Amino acid sequence: MPAKLQPRRLWRDVTLFDGHDTLPEPMAVVVTGESIERVIPMRQLDRADAEACELFGQGGVLTPGLVDCHTHLVFGGSRAEEFESRLEGVSYEAIARQGGGILSTVRATRTASEEALFDMARPRLEALVRDGITTVEIKSGYGLSIADELKMLRVARRLGEELPVRVVTTLLGAHALPPEFKDDSDAYIDLVCREMIPAAAEQGLADAVDVFCEKIAFSVAQCERVFEAAEAHGLPIKAHAEQLSNLGGSAMAARHGALSADHIEYLDEAGVAALREAGSVAVLLPGAFHTLRETRLPPIAALREAGVPMAIATDANPGSSPLFMPTLMLNFACTLFRLTPREALAGMTANGARALGLHGQSLGRIVEGAPADLCLWDVETPAELAYAVQPGRLRQRIYRGEPSHG
Ligand code: NIG
Ligand code: FE
Repeated sequence: MPAKLQPRRLWRDVTLFDGHDTLPEPMAVVVTGESIERVIPMRQLDRADAEACELFGQGGVLTPGLVDCHTHLVFGGSRAEEFESRLEGVSYEAIARQGGGILSTVRATRTASEEALFDMARPRLEALVRDGITTVEIKSGYGLSIADELKMLRVARRLGEELPVRVVTTLLGAHALPPEFKDDSDAYIDLVCREMIPAAAEQGLADAVDVFCEKIAFSVAQCERVFEAAEAHGLPIKAHAEQLSNLGGSAMAARHGALSADHIEYLDEAGVAALREAGSVAVLLPGAFHTLRETRLPPIAALREAGVPMAIATDANPGSSPLFMPTLMLNFACTLFRLTPREALAGMTANGARALGLHGQSLGRIVEGAPADLCLWDVETPAELAYAVQPGRLRQRIYRGEPSHG
């Protein structure tokens, strides 16, 4: 349909956070079809303009639709018991070494049918959508066999087809060593590289490839092999790295042009420099930091000084971050990591989109030509979104130009 026949929708008198900054004066935004057509100060909105549009919202704070660039929403089972053990003092690492943790979710995910996994993931995603998410990344990583990893990715794709939210999928085959490969992690990495990545690529099920580079998971050399296989299939890469120790996984990922390095509590100066040089995003996960009661902070000041873009995500998963509330992460990013509210919001909009490689199409920003994914909030200033933890302030969520709460 030619653009001029599409409805023109107007939001007026809004305080506008454009994905990077709050604009200094009241703004008007016109949406045509699925894209943002105009972003102008109210004083430039003339009557003819306003009359040609349908008024969809007035007042409040308008932000880009929130982007959650790191989640593990598809999984079976629960880890409430592990939560209790951790409260009694058993560490996340110790639980993993005893075959619990990620592997306990693997057992529950393998036994669940595709339909059951979809039904379990749906309310989790709906919770994110109700809190303003319009784009979400969903990882596999609890299947750890070709069939089960592909099953998880199909569930993720279907979530994006059935719910009003953009879903980006990531193959995380190298998340943990499955029991069948005990004592032969290189053989499992062979399987990931030679069969799993090719199958996911061929079936169009993965938009990116991720690894868990850690002592309890895979070495830097093994993760590098996974990245080489991803590159051979034209898939972008990212890494869970420097979460529990400093192995240098982030720097290696950056050398391979990673979209992002995620967690990074133990990232050192050389790692920060590598991210800067590669233009990779630092994805901060304050939910996992909080849940695991970590004390080592990511190197925020160094990242800021180096100009490395910082994103914030929920890391929603059954173990290290059973937290399905993106706006809580804005608050945690400020209170736990001392980001400014502006940085936190940019982390869940423009920089979240960058961590998914979607910034080229201006996703996560309110600029002319960007996709019309927006949130209208009942608050006075953008900072209030990070300051108070208060569900119910999302007045309107606009996905691909259509107002909906999802
Ligand atoms: O992002 N760090 C590794 N992977 C996930 C946790 C997965 C789990 O505990 O189930 C994370 O924290
Ligand atoms: Fe994660």
